[in-house]
Amino acid sequence: KRVAVLISGRGSNMTALIEACKDPAYPAEIVAVLSNKPDAAGLEVARSHGIEATPVPQKDYASRTAHEAALNAELTRIAPDVICLAGYMRLMSADFVGQWEGRMINIHPSLLPLFKGLDSHARVLESGMRIHGCTVHFVTAEMDGGPIIAQGVAPVKPDDTEETLTARVLSMEHRLYPLALKLVAEGKARMVDGGIVYSGLGE
Ligand code: GRF
Repeated sequence: KRVAVLISGRGSNMTALIEACKDPAYPAEIVAVLSNKPDAAGLEVARSHGIEATPVPQKDYASRTAHEAALNAELTRIAPDVICLAGYMRLMSADFVGQWEGRMINIHPSLLPLFKGLDSHARVLESGMRIHGCTVHFVTAEMDGGPIIAQGVAPVKPDDTEETLTARVLSMEHRLYPLALKLVAEGKARMVDGGIVYSGLGE
């Protein structure tokens, strides 16, 4: 399956997906990386792996609609089967999301539906919860609200700071995202009627 990855920053989740795709048995290949930030470090990383990496800077466009039209033009050219958002930090319009619904997935650093939005790690620490984690989900118009594909759980340790907790969850993200993309690329996790349908998972 052809995969496009959308980033805004360093792209460590993108890199985890690129590494997973190097296994010939993996059912997907990253064909392009796009960024809404022209200075995203992940663009260079993608190029160093021989992957086409294109900035589509939001500041070059007067409105969200105009930026999304430019993004859509790139994506239509690339013709991906799956779009992976990997630290893509701009909200998308319902219109844009609707065009790719069921084919666009995102990773979020919390156990959704808890802690949607920014600064999840600090808010988890503040909450007193002893577990935390990450979620890969299909993207819908509701931010961090689409059907959940897979989750990973991490402990919150007594001496955790935002930094140590962030690092623990991030390394779990790097393991979870390739597993979740595999499920989607193989058609084993599909979005149907706004929910998730699994098939062929075995016992
Ligand atoms: C990750 O924690 C991701 O879940 C969140 O932003 C971070 C991006 O990191 N949405 P990276 O760019 O993948 O390194």
